[in-house]
Amino acid sequence: MASSSLDTSWCETELATEVVGRSIRYYPRIDSTNEQALRLAEAGAAEGTVVVADTQTAGRGRRGRRWLDEPGQALLFSVLLRPACEQSQVPILSLGAAAACAESLTSSYSIPVVTKWPNDLLIADRKVGGILLEERGGAVVVGVGLNVNGRPEVLQAQVGAPLTTLEKHYGTPLRREEVLVGILEKIDVIYQQFQSGGLAEVVGRYRRFESVLGRNVYVHLGQEVICGTARAVNDCGALVLDTADGEREITAGEVELVAGSE
Ligand code: BTN
Repeated sequence: MASSSLDTSWCETELATEVVGRSIRYYPRIDSTNEQALRLAEAGAAEGTVVVADTQTAGRGRRGRRWLDEPGQALLFSVLLRPACEQSQVPILSLGAAAACAESLTSSYSIPVVTKWPNDLLIADRKVGGILLEERGGAVVVGVGLNVNGRPEVLQAQVGAPLTTLEKHYGTPLRREEVLVGILEKIDVIYQQFQSGGLAEVVGRYRRFESVLGRNVYVHLGQEVICGTARAVNDCGALVLDTADGEREITAGEVELVAGSE
């Protein structure tokens, strides 16, 4: 499919939200939408500002990795938030964004998107997207990268991990503007829920899509690797593991499925 530019004025007309997407800043090409949202936050941009781009030259992934895209085929956006919560509760916003993506894509397109704690989006065990939450000076930026259309093999060769696109499962290219509006509307609802103290409800929305529960996993915590069975995502958003040494509650880490674990 040919590369195309996002029509953000259509998104602005369609979007029915309270906070998220009050202002949409579109860039055909930018270093990183997260970095741009953080810069705008420092300059005093309003909560709910969305930064969206057709391609990134220095897209960031979790754990210092790069996030690559096929220009004009992916959704690459960041939402600027200024939540009124304790620091330890901020990661729940990332689970909320993952839930928003999964809810929107399953309900609008019947694409079986699930999550892999804490913020991978998968279809049939292949990565289709991810969330990167970053903070600076009291502002929180929730960045979403979603492989919408195009050829997963192009990126896969560079990333070296099994990837997929929404198009591959939907059977035909999706209109990125529609996908964006659907997800932003869900993020808006979930953010209102978060701000009014419904943190456990936000985690509950996330939990419905979690694919690692009941599976044997390795969790990488820096140099340490813990092996166990993923038992739950608790109301604080932590992953609860049953290990040979008892229960462990993990608040940050990288989950790898043990080969052959169903
Ligand atoms: C991950 O490693 O899975 C998280 C990837 C998050 C990528 C998105 S793309 C839009 C936003 N801008 C960035 O630089 N990163 C996030």
